[in-house]
Amino acid sequence: MASISTEIAQPICCLINRRGQVIRVALGTPHQTKIPPSELPRYGAERLCGLRCVHTCWLSPSPSDLTAMVMQRLDSLISLSLNAQGGVEQVYLAHLLPDQAQPWFLSAPLSLEAIAKQDFNDLVLGLEEEFRRAYRSLAVDDQSDRVILVAAILKQLAADVMPSSLAELAQLVESAGGKVLETIWQKRDRLHPQTVLGEGKIQEIAVLAQTQGANLVVFDRELSPAQTRNLEKLLGVRVSDRTEVILDIFAQRAQSAAGKLQVELAQLEYRLPRLVGRGQALSRLGGGIGTRGPGETKLESDRRVIQTRINHLQQQVNQLQAQRSRMRQQRLDQQIPTVAIVGYTNAGKSTLLNALTKSQAYAADQLFATLDPTTRRLNLQEYLARPDLGISTILLTDTVGFIHELPPSLMDAFRATLEEVTESDALIHLVDVSHPDWTTQVTAVEKILADLPTPVGESCLVFNKVDCLTQAELHDLQGCYPGAILISAAQRQGFVQLCYGLAHLLKDTQAWRARPHLDGES
Ligand code: GTP
Repeated sequence: MASISTEIAQPICCLINRRGQVIRVALGTPHQTKIPPSELPRYGAERLCGLRCVHTCWLSPSPSDLTAMVMQRLDSLISLSLNAQGGVEQVYLAHLLPDQAQPWFLSAPLSLEAIAKQDFNDLVLGLEEEFRRAYRSLAVDDQSDRVILVAAILKQLAADVMPSSLAELAQLVESAGGKVLETIWQKRDRLHPQTVLGEGKIQEIAVLAQTQGANLVVFDRELSPAQTRNLEKLLGVRVSDRTEVILDIFAQRAQSAAGKLQVELAQLEYRLPRLVGRGQALSRLGGGIGTRGPGETKLESDRRVIQTRINHLQQQVNQLQAQRSRMRQQRLDQQIPTVAIVGYTNAGKSTLLNALTKSQAYAADQLFATLDPTTRRLNLQEYLARPDLGISTILLTDTVGFIHELPPSLMDAFRATLEEVTESDALIHLVDVSHPDWTTQVTAVEKILADLPTPVGESCLVFNKVDCLTQAELHDLQGCYPGAILISAAQRQGFVQLCYGLAHLLKDTQAWRARPHLDGES
């Protein structure tokens, strides 16, 4: 008896295609023998995979058997529960449903005769029609990427609340045109080298992606090319990371030739090591976030062609650098001090430039609304009662916004733009104090400035959006940061203090008065 039990304790799985042919028999549960989505004959939110699985089990199908059905989008799962003698006791039929709340149907126990009479092709055709209808209505409702956000947080760093970086990632995805369906995060002792998260969590995400009709999973950290490939294989949907989303936003925002050039360079530098084996996944899983910009055909072409393009773009960026440098030199020759406004994305830099200089640079409640530097002349005398500070006019530049862990490829590609920061006499570090994480943002901006290849000039800390604070919050802020200048760019408050602050800063700096010509600049 014991030997029979042992034998039948080993479950068997059999995969059958739509012509009734057995294509695979394996020992193990449906979960243990499952095929990765990318290796199934057909796959997609609007259809089933074309295979049904017949397997043996004790009592009834387990939740992990049903999860395997969802992950592979099996046509159906037929579970044969065996008795101690190895005979079929009962049969269960399970299949997917196009219902996010209840993603599968599991029958009551059936007889073998009942299941033998089941017309599976008929069942599958009906189900696929329902899936197509549900998919079409999703697609009509919503042309954007349907995204699941994922973060893996090391235990020693993890708090019990959702990390604020995930809220920022959601904002980034929405800025890129995606729709966030779910946010998942997991604390881990260490990251899994191949898949970042553990097997159980990956399964949970795969099921969620299927049941929610997600077509993109975005991770809150930069993934290696191999991790991206492994995850796409296991999840069956496109996988992207924070860097790729930021690059995508830049690609969408770039307006000028210089902006487009720098974005293309950044994207190609990021994608080059990721090209191997990704072309198939990308063409299979569709376009959207991370696929815009230079175009797929270019990305799938030979690495050498891309490397040549990168070299060509590098040269163009060098030319841009030289051209911007000449323009700066002309400005410097006029002995007019220059001030760059730097700050976290969405801090209000363009709004401040517009308000101070009465100009019309693009400002919007969007991340990375401005990529191109804009320089305007500011007459300080308009705001200063005492003209004895010796500075009447300055040139004010609004630059690209910063974000924590600004992708290195962007830092490199945008070197011509970032030089507007390093070459200016002083900086306004503008901070959105209405943002819950403004202190982290200040640290992120300081880190980026410290990492720039050339040291930056003196800076003054300017707290913007104070119109959103209560009197008590304002009071606390002044107490903690007595040297900071408080303004509301939108409501034109605090401009007199700001202009005095700038005039004093530039007076102390004095560098702009006796500026030598730089080598190599005409
Ligand atoms: P990026 O180009 O993305 O880096 O943004 P930015 O720093 O140039 O910010 P932008 O000037 O585009 O402003 C971002 C949002 O903040 C806009 O919706 C502005 O209207 C808003 N904003 C700017 N200044 C203030 C302010 O003083 N108070 C309030 N309440 N909103 C402001």
